[in-house]
Amino acid sequence: MNKVFTGLGRRLRLGVIGGGPGSFIGEVHRSAARLDDNFEIVAGTLSSVPNRSIEAGCSIGLSHDRAYGTAEEMFAGEAARADGMEVVAIMTPNDSHFGYCRRALERRLDIVCDKPLTTNLADALELVRLVREAGVVFCNTFNYSAFPMVRQARAMVRNGEIGDVRMAHVEYVQGHNAALTAGEHGVSPSNWHFSKERTGPSLILADIGSHAHHLVRFVTGLDVTAVAAQVCATVPGRHSDDYGGILFRLSNGAPGTMWITQAAAGAVHGLRFRVVGSSTSLEWFEEEPNRLHVSHLDAPASVLERGGLGLSRAAERAQRTGIGHPEGYVEAFAVLYADVAEVIVARHLGQPVDPFALDFPNVEDGAKTMKFIEACLESAHSRQWIDCSLA
Ligand SMILES: NC(=O)c1ccc[n+]([C@@H]2O[C@H](COP(=O)([O-])OP(=O)(O)OC[C@H]3O[C@@H](n4cnc5c(N)ncnc54)[C@H](O)[C@@H]3O)[C@@H](O)[C@H]2O)c1
Repeated sequence: MNKVFTGLGRRLRLGVIGGGPGSFIGEVHRSAARLDDNFEIVAGTLSSVPNRSIEAGCSIGLSHDRAYGTAEEMFAGEAARADGMEVVAIMTPNDSHFGYCRRALERRLDIVCDKPLTTNLADALELVRLVREAGVVFCNTFNYSAFPMVRQARAMVRNGEIGDVRMAHVEYVQGHNAALTAGEHGVSPSNWHFSKERTGPSLILADIGSHAHHLVRFVTGLDVTAVAAQVCATVPGRHSDDYGGILFRLSNGAPGTMWITQAAAGAVHGLRFRVVGSSTSLEWFEEEPNRLHVSHLDAPASVLERGGLGLSRAAERAQRTGIGHPEGYVEAFAVLYADVAEVIVARHLGQPVDPFALDFPNVEDGAKTMKFIEACLESAHSRQWIDCSLA
């Protein structure tokens, strides 16, 4: 489906913070932003080390005067230009998200910020307040919600096609931390994930529990209202947590379970959900993302294919190629950028926006995840069920 929004007769001007050489997610953001030609990357601060930042910016094709040494210089330099950046994408370690978002909000820039939103709930709530005040577009990149077949699952739940949501399960089972990582106690810039100051109070909840939390909310259309969690390290000698086993309650009272770990020997990426309704159950696995498994109480099971028959408009507008041509992580990430572009362009033109474009995760979603993280840690400590609703 068309995702190119040409109404302005030009691309939106994007600045990027983070994503220097060797970063995991930087290249993904830049590719996703450019996939549909809605954005032009005009400025960047790619590293926290000024000379490396300038060098890295030039290496991705930025002009020398817009490959900045620091984000402060970029905000000031771009504000002084008639053709300055109008959207900023933040893909730095977690502890810098809040400060950069606040700077961007002072300049009323639209924002794409990676997850987790912040490292604590108080900062997240402050961002909610500031985003509402500024009236800008804010996308917190919980990118798994943008896979076409995840959007299909959400549409089926929303349209009543599975009956009442009775239970849900999400697992995110990775293996890259199954053994103690060299230097993980030393915390060098390249392994900041193991530093509580940089990643937040929980590595496992910030890295992947955050995605699992958003995904179950997105698909069911319900909030997670309470948790009983075990959060701990399973690898001997590890200081950071690498495991979360979480019972949760959804806002309709339905129970759920979540298993998240990065310490499962031999596991690959392992993101999966099952949502069970009173008449029908849905199952999706990110390593086979173009299919949604549908099981019925009183009819044969089926598999819905991305690009195939019987899909909702929400799924169709998120897909790009025909049936059988695999679409994956980068394409789904690009759906978020396309949604953001559609909303920004509609705002510029004073036109109504397709409600489906507003399905991207926003600042409120980010704050709810921070509340969930804090509630899980409190529950793990107190061994009690903890409320995690956020109005
Ligand atoms: N949505 C996803 O699927 C996903 C996947 C991975 C990471 N992430 C998130 O993306 C963020 C970055 O994670 P990563 O794994 O890519 O980290 P990384 O360490 O691989 O890369 C971080 C990059 O940011 C640069 N950087 C660090 N501090 C900076 C600063 N102050 N100003 C400018 N540049 C700075 C570093 O030089 C590096 O190039 C994290 O918040 C993480 O949670 C999201």
